[in-house]
Amino acid sequence: MKEWYDAIKEAQSVEKLEEIRISVFGKKGVLAAEFAKMKSAPNDQKAQIAKDLNTHKSSLMNEFTARKITLQTLQLQEAMKAESIDVSLFTSKSQAGALHPVMETMDRIVEYFTAMNFAVKTGSMVEDDFNNFEALNLPKYHPARDMQDTFYFKDEMLLRTHTSPVQIRTMMNTKPPIRMIAPGAVFRRDYDLTHTPMFHQVEGLLVDDEGKVSFANLKYILEDFLKYMFGDIEVRFRPSFFPFTEPSAEVDISCVFCKGEGCRVCSHTGWLEVLGCGIVDPNVFKAVKYKNVSGYAFGLGVERFAMLIHQIGDLRSLFEGDIKLLEQFQ
Ligand code: DAH
Repeated sequence: MKEWYDAIKEAQSVEKLEEIRISVFGKKGVLAAEFAKMKSAPNDQKAQIAKDLNTHKSSLMNEFTARKITLQTLQLQEAMKAESIDVSLFTSKSQAGALHPVMETMDRIVEYFTAMNFAVKTGSMVEDDFNNFEALNLPKYHPARDMQDTFYFKDEMLLRTHTSPVQIRTMMNTKPPIRMIAPGAVFRRDYDLTHTPMFHQVEGLLVDDEGKVSFANLKYILEDFLKYMFGDIEVRFRPSFFPFTEPSAEVDISCVFCKGEGCRVCSHTGWLEVLGCGIVDPNVFKAVKYKNVSGYAFGLGVERFAMLIHQIGDLRSLFEGDIKLLEQFQ
């Protein structure tokens, strides 16, 4: 029997101890075998043998229970040690999120115009032909529709190609005077270094009584706005054409890279085109049934602004979710 006491005392794991328990106390175990042997013992010794065996049985059981508790405690301690977390350990700095450069630029643009008392309006990305083209003096088959490659749905619905339809929506459900900007996503079938199928624009519209709004007002606010966005730059207005404005102009700033000296970015002209604008065409007012009013409008591409401010060369990189690029804007 002594070997079994030793075996229990020396068992090094709960699993080993369980094997021993089966060998000692099991149906085919040592104790069962000893009790079986008793049958063939002389009758006058049976009582003593049984007594001895029962004494062993309970002592072995006590040893077993004690060892089991010890081993379980050890096992628990080891598990706790292995799973413990040292909260005082150093770790790498977690990454803070940041605004995407396009959104940050958009926020800055919106900030300027809201400070100038312009209301922020939103339209719908899915537009109809009337709001996106027709009411903006772009009748069907007008050649200027080619300026914008459109994604069409069924039934004359489309993805808006510019934020100008928000002008129409706003004028259709508000009375003049109006001072609004419309920031948002627009869509065109285009993809290269300077074009992506989705990009962002900010549209501006100001409408007041007839004779109250002049090109000089427009020129003043856009110059002030561009200096707010780009700092110390020159601004120039070039005659241009948009169906929804007459007269129309495109606005250039002196190149932010070469300060007007001429470089690759400005195609050696010293100037960068940044927005389109003009005096609202009477046909637009006719479409929304406005009478005796005057107004100016402008539109700009937010990505272009972000690229010039942050000196980003490839427009597409703004939409690839490249962490290396985005990390630079934290
Ligand atoms: N909608 C024009 C575009 O997407 C931008 C634009 C130019 C808007 C002149 C205007 C404007 O309101 O007056 O290219």
